[in-house]
Amino acid sequence: MSDNRKRLAVLLSGRGSNMAAILEATRDPAYPAEIVLVISDHENAGGLETALEADIPAFGFERQDYPTKNAHEKAIIEALLDHDIDLICLAGYMRLLSHDFTQQFSGKLINIHPSLLPLHKGLDTHARALAAGDREHGCTVHHVNAEMDGGEIIAQARVPVLDGDTAETLAARVLVEEHKLYPEVVRTLCS
Ligand code: GRF
Repeated sequence: MSDNRKRLAVLLSGRGSNMAAILEATRDPAYPAEIVLVISDHENAGGLETALEADIPAFGFERQDYPTKNAHEKAIIEALLDHDIDLICLAGYMRLLSHDFTQQFSGKLINIHPSLLPLHKGLDTHARALAAGDREHGCTVHHVNAEMDGGEIIAQARVPVLDGDTAETLAARVLVEEHKLYPEVVRTLCS
């Protein structure tokens, strides 16, 4: 593995399947990035365990351990600065980052969202796509600003909505695409 790989941090709140997909991609020595830090706002997030099993430094910062949102973000920022991060990938990180945070890492902060933005910002995207009668759904990787799911779009992947789809079947079909799209976008940005 070459030393000039870009240094990735992943921020997550839960199971971390997108983090795992990026991790899998980094096993290719030609991949231009490596995950050097995983951070969660939940100490028991499954994604932290996956990272630790791969010998990646992984830390939980529980929001209630800090008096303010600002103090919580400050602790996370310190960890990011300590690890000399080139690119921060939000992957199921369920907190809105402050304007100060997004400004500090502007251009180095990306997210994956399970809809074809600007459609269906926020939660329950699969149920909302079904309720809206969308014939097509998918996922988006985008730059992050302080507006929820609002930054500039980098890339999208599309799936058809099929007759008989439930939020669960649609989510599963989108997730397969997320796991391809996110590592590819990281590859492009880091090349
Ligand atoms: C993904 O659907 C992602 O698009 C959304 O949250 C979910 C996280 O899943 N932001 P995982 O933790 O990566 O498995």
